[in-house]
Amino acid sequence: MNAPQHTTSPKNTLPSNIVMSGIRPTGMLHLGNYFGAIQNYVRMQEEYECFFMVADLHSLTTHPDTSTLKANVKRVLAENIACGLDPNKATFYCQSHIHETAELYLYLNMLAYKGELEKTVTFKDKARQHPENINAGLLTYPVLQTADIILHRASYVPVGKDQEQHLEMARNFVNRFNHRYGEVFPEPHAFNYNQELIKVPGLDGTGKMSKSENNMSTLYFADDDDAIRKKVMKAKTDNGPTEKNSIKPDYIENIFMLMKLVCSEDVISKYEADFNNCTIRYGELKKQLAEDMVNFMSPIRQKATDILANDAYLTEVMQKGAQKAQESAQKTMKIVREAIGLNYF
Ligand code: TRP
Repeated sequence: MNAPQHTTSPKNTLPSNIVMSGIRPTGMLHLGNYFGAIQNYVRMQEEYECFFMVADLHSLTTHPDTSTLKANVKRVLAENIACGLDPNKATFYCQSHIHETAELYLYLNMLAYKGELEKTVTFKDKARQHPENINAGLLTYPVLQTADIILHRASYVPVGKDQEQHLEMARNFVNRFNHRYGEVFPEPHAFNYNQELIKVPGLDGTGKMSKSENNMSTLYFADDDDAIRKKVMKAKTDNGPTEKNSIKPDYIENIFMLMKLVCSEDVISKYEADFNNCTIRYGELKKQLAEDMVNFMSPIRQKATDILANDAYLTEVMQKGAQKAQESAQKTMKIVREAIGLNYF
């Protein structure tokens, strides 16, 4: 097969200094998202050119009912801004406002093979969960995600472990594009400050905090103070160690991990010592943790509520974000069309 020749050789220095990530507007923001992802975004916005996007189009692959979509997108914007994401520093926008994404997605679809898409772990999981709605959008989810990233010619993608396969696929699509049409895109790579991403354990002693709604083991930023207290007080403990300097059971280790996120050094060392000499009282510890957790989470909730009440501000954020993201997207698409040979006049 003869590869089409590109008419220009796009001047593109690889890799870029650009960060891009997407946030799905499904599920509720929780403590795990904060320490696992948003904290990284907040730091990156100081050091890189950042594009952070609410993935409303991706949500259509699994949530065809759009009656709550707008409200969810606004809540995601408000919560992330409340956590420190600054729309004046990063470009914070909504996926569906950038129509260039759909065009790039179409071109990339010709470079993505059915076999590799069908092998994707997230596709297989979702197909199993919803056998009645295995749509082509679900199959090509990683292609749309690639379009999001490379539309800004980003090199760095702050994501969790569950997205690593999608990034590997993105690199494959990029390399195929570059090989066929010329070096247009840098290879995107997963990128985070913390070597090992901070994993925030759930309160039931098993697994991580999760996005599914009304889960007792997860602390959501939408929870009110009493809900936070109640969840912390219900965390699994026992009667305490009977031998000095014992090893902590997993569920106790998890509680100490949560304390490290929000309690002072003094508080932590007091309870470490109490544990080691078998005088620990978990009821008292959890009361302390609950108060420190409320003090950490409630100002963020307050701020998110205030932002959400200011619809004019949110509209302005979205419009400004859309404009900045469009500029970047249009620049890339001009190069892309020329590289493919779709520049007729
Ligand atoms: N697939 C990502 C998730 O499930 C969300 C996402 C959409 C994304 N587009 C992206 C992440 C681009 C990184 C880059 O969380």
